[in-house]
Amino acid sequence: MCKYVLQLVLVVGIALAVRASPLNASCSVSSYDDVASAVSSCTSITLGSFTVPAGKALSMSLKSGTTVTVTGTIKFAYSEWKGPLVEISGSKITFKNSGGTFDGQGANYWDGKGDSGVTKPKFFRIKTSGGSTFSNIKLKNCPHQCVSINSASDTTLNGWTIDVSAGDSAGGKNTDGFDLSSSSGITIENSVVKNQDDCVAINQGSNYVFKNLTCSGGHGLSLSVGQSSSSGSANTVSNVTFSDCTVKNSRNGIHIKTHSDAGSGSVTDVTYKNIKLSGITNYGINVQQDYENGGSSGNPKGNIPIKNLKLSSVTGTMSGGSSSMPVYILCGSNGCSSWTWSGVSITGGKKSNSCNYSPSGFSC
Ligand SMILES: *[C@@H]1O[C@H](CO)[C@@H](O)[C@H](O)[C@H]1NC(C)=O
Ligand SMILES: *[C@@H]1O[C@H](CO)[C@@H](O)[C@H](O)[C@H]1NC(C)=O
Ligand SMILES: *[C@@H]1O[C@H](CO)[C@@H](O)[C@H](O)[C@H]1NC(C)=O
Repeated sequence: MCKYVLQLVLVVGIALAVRASPLNASCSVSSYDDVASAVSSCTSITLGSFTVPAGKALSMSLKSGTTVTVTGTIKFAYSEWKGPLVEISGSKITFKNSGGTFDGQGANYWDGKGDSGVTKPKFFRIKTSGGSTFSNIKLKNCPHQCVSINSASDTTLNGWTIDVSAGDSAGGKNTDGFDLSSSSGITIENSVVKNQDDCVAINQGSNYVFKNLTCSGGHGLSLSVGQSSSSGSANTVSNVTFSDCTVKNSRNGIHIKTHSDAGSGSVTDVTYKNIKLSGITNYGINVQQDYENGGSSGNPKGNIPIKNLKLSSVTGTMSGGSSSMPVYILCGSNGCSSWTWSGVSITGGKKSNSCNYSPSGFSC
């Protein structure tokens, strides 16, 4: 008899223990105050709905192999600071969405002045490595730049939706989709960006892949290289491929600019293939080596040469506005070499093409 009671106690005890582990409250975050303990003790974390206090970041320096699932709406109380509002680091991280949204509440900050005006926080910073993935993440109403991938490696973003379209009529500006620097081995695919600045902006780094992106409202698929006055790796970009992307209702389709007031550097092995453009207001393709003090000086330099720029099947239409030009190439002395373009056909510009360098396979 006693033996059976003991067995029963044991069975009930085990059943309770098994039930208890998925209910571990500290791994299911529904308040900002729970974040730090979840990050330090859990390898499977659920983020529900909560508001991050003003001037604080949702900062998660995760244990290797952690899975984070976003199920709620995460908001951020107003504060005029630089952010980022979210910062994720760690190796082998699986960060996925299941019905959640990060809402930056940009309308509280937008003043039509972007980088100037009130200080606005950057939104979502990624510095992960080791085969990390971020799937189906939704970002809404970025106050300023949306996603900064900086000091990251071997990380894939898949199925993102970044929607800042509310900023079109409400003063959203400099709301870059994905900014990349000091990283390598980054893939961004199957994602949608609706914003008011570059869809992608690469400042630095190598081994980047962008596939099946749909961009609208912004400034296009861009490289902006030469943020540093020093020479060398700070101003280098190499091995980048954009494929199967659509850019619509945007200022530019493809925009590569090197900063003539920077130190030396290089842009090597950049490929755009199967890119479809529509409703482009300024330049279908713009490669300029005269960027200085945040604008075009008209005086290009070859301090950051662009070598082996490959375009294949870049097609589409301009919006027809008075300053629209399909292709503009302005290279500095010895600044451009070994470009091969095929199947580049953009129609409907009001101005004719202007090129001071001729890629092989394309007649300006
Ligand atoms: C539950 O939380 C505690 C700390 O609060 C942690 O030590 C434990 O690993 C967690 N259990 C699970 C299954 O995540
Ligand atoms: C391209 O991305 C969209 C999401 O933006 C997705 O619905 C579609 O299935 C993707 N296409 C392919 C071929 O993966
Ligand atoms: C270019 O980048 C891709 C994607 O990361 C990588 O698979 C490939 O090996 C790289 N190529 C070179 C020459 O480094």
